[in-house]
Amino acid sequence: MPITVTPFGGPLGAEISGLDIRSVSPEDAQALNEAFLEHHVIVLRDQKPTDQQLVDFGKSFGEIKKSRFVSPLSGHDQIMVISNIREDGKPLGQLPDGEMWFHIDQIYTAQPCRGAALHALEIPSEGGDTCFSNTVLAYETLPDATKKRLDGLTAQHSFQYGATTIGGKQDEDRPRYTHPLVRRIPDTGKKSISICRLMTDRINELPDTESRALIGELCDHVENPKFVYQHKWQIGDILVWDNRCTSHARTDFSETERRFMKRVTIADKDVPMA
Ligand code: OGA
Ligand code: MN
Repeated sequence: MPITVTPFGGPLGAEISGLDIRSVSPEDAQALNEAFLEHHVIVLRDQKPTDQQLVDFGKSFGEIKKSRFVSPLSGHDQIMVISNIREDGKPLGQLPDGEMWFHIDQIYTAQPCRGAALHALEIPSEGGDTCFSNTVLAYETLPDATKKRLDGLTAQHSFQYGATTIGGKQDEDRPRYTHPLVRRIPDTGKKSISICRLMTDRINELPDTESRALIGELCDHVENPKFVYQHKWQIGDILVWDNRCTSHARTDFSETERRFMKRVTIADKDVPMA
């Protein structure tokens, strides 16, 4: 059966149907990559892969990065478990609880990931949605004067949640990295704004007050609902996002309900360039 790609009709995203990810042909992989590049977020429903099948599916998009933490809920070293499930009060997965502000994964490192795939196994009855902003569309809709102003600027991002609001009180030991504020996506030639409220702490070329004002302005712009798709999870969903063209966030959910996702992280072959 051929793959069908149905765009969500909003700022980004498409649903892929007609594919069981337990067997992906080279033609399927090519169609998936085309949809990934065009829509930035793709969703497949009702999938039941084993851990290895999920990893193999991820390989359709690039090399897989090893997980820094191997969870007892998976045991596979290329699977990152995102979950609030606990044993003796200790979470068995990463990113366990509640709301997360908009962020770009690994933006505080030299080579942030190309993307990632999440597979939903258990979801709360309410909340825990994942929101994706289209940072390419956010760039393209900026006034020309702002585009010109951003040209040549670089931003430092640090692994300190809430970096934008903490300002000068940074913990110097946290990993941090500087990237161009606007990056060009090699596959498409399109430009994307690389900024996020969770981890961008300054624009290097500007004095502190101006830097903070511009970060605030750009984060507000990127998070404008007109650029955002909010994914309401169903069990069995697999969602793949392009981490170069989107910023993502998670809505709050009750700590009394279980949430359990498995994730594979797709490495990038490029570093962010203007
Ligand atoms: C992630 C992430 C969001 C979620 O895996 O990087 O931000 O909804 N997850 O759990
Ligand atoms: Mn994330």
